[in-house]
Amino acid sequence: MRTKVVLARIRAGVLEQGTVELLNEVGVAARLHREGLIHGGIELAFAGARHRIDLKQSTGKVVTIYGQTEVTRDLMDARDAAGLQTVYAADHVSPGDYDTDHPRVSFVKDGTTHKIECDFIAGCDGFHGISRQSVPAAALETFERIYPFGWLGVLSETPPISPELIYTNHPRGFALCSMRSMHRSRYYVQCSLEDQVDQWPDQKFWDELKRRLDQEAVAHLVTGPSIEKGIAPLRSFVAEPMRFGRMFLAGDAAHIVPPTGAKGLNLAASDVYYLSRGLREYYDEKSSAGIDAYSAKALARVWKAVRFSWWMTSMLHRFPDTEGFGARIQLAELSYLVSSQAASTSLSENYVGLPY
Ligand code: PHB
Repeated sequence: MRTKVVLARIRAGVLEQGTVELLNEVGVAARLHREGLIHGGIELAFAGARHRIDLKQSTGKVVTIYGQTEVTRDLMDARDAAGLQTVYAADHVSPGDYDTDHPRVSFVKDGTTHKIECDFIAGCDGFHGISRQSVPAAALETFERIYPFGWLGVLSETPPISPELIYTNHPRGFALCSMRSMHRSRYYVQCSLEDQVDQWPDQKFWDELKRRLDQEAVAHLVTGPSIEKGIAPLRSFVAEPMRFGRMFLAGDAAHIVPPTGAKGLNLAASDVYYLSRGLREYYDEKSSAGIDAYSAKALARVWKAVRFSWWMTSMLHRFPDTEGFGARIQLAELSYLVSSQAASTSLSENYVGLPY
């Protein structure tokens, strides 16, 4: 069997209102408000037609299209501007003693070993990070689903095909038309996990995308050279609990969702919301109630987003067994979704983000 490279995770660019409010609250949302695109709906395409789901009408909420890498940049700039120290590219990071009252993190930077003594450790170091891996296996329970396909994604310096995102169920596989701005587009097609990026020259990608879109959409598609192209696997993963003594896991360190519902960054934000409130309570009110409730509160919301992302993924992709029966069930579900106010409200509530 061919060894597969684990490629970068997809960084969707869809921010829930709660995420935007959190960024507002900490004063890092100025550029987001200038450059972000407000979307009040998404489109679902299947059986040759497109149907709009009106997020705003059914929930009163919208989502903001703003690249995840831009959020990271804004956060890094804010720390710089506040004169806070951030150590980048540290080696041999090792959290320790978090089951005592004196946790510490050691790391090597430019050949020198450093030790930080602290009250708490926030393990926000991603799925492959050391925080979760440093926890004894017996203290963790993990839940996982690996999907039998990947997403091939292309970024291009072209205007988006349509003002809103289009999620497509097609016999050839899922496709998604997204954007970063009004002059930069992001497109995805479901592909095989065996595929390599170099098997997908730009022309082949555009041809495949066109095959999965309706005529009207194809007529509006502006193609151009890809400025980024990659294949990402899809996975659902949850580690429980999210607290180990004085170390807390947050974001991808604790959970992964497939990108179909654009929930990854938004879940990291809600974790941070719960954790920051808990820590504030600890210092301001000398109460551990918030940090004690952190894991259960965060996981309750995480699992709902895991369910939503799994459901969107299941409904929109071609699975090895999506032959006859499975394909008809998908179409029946999609058709129900776009014709029932109750069903489209349910999708909308999850898409714009469940309450914290
Ligand atoms: C993206 O713009 O990269 C994107 C948007 C929505 C998704 C996934 C990815 O569900």
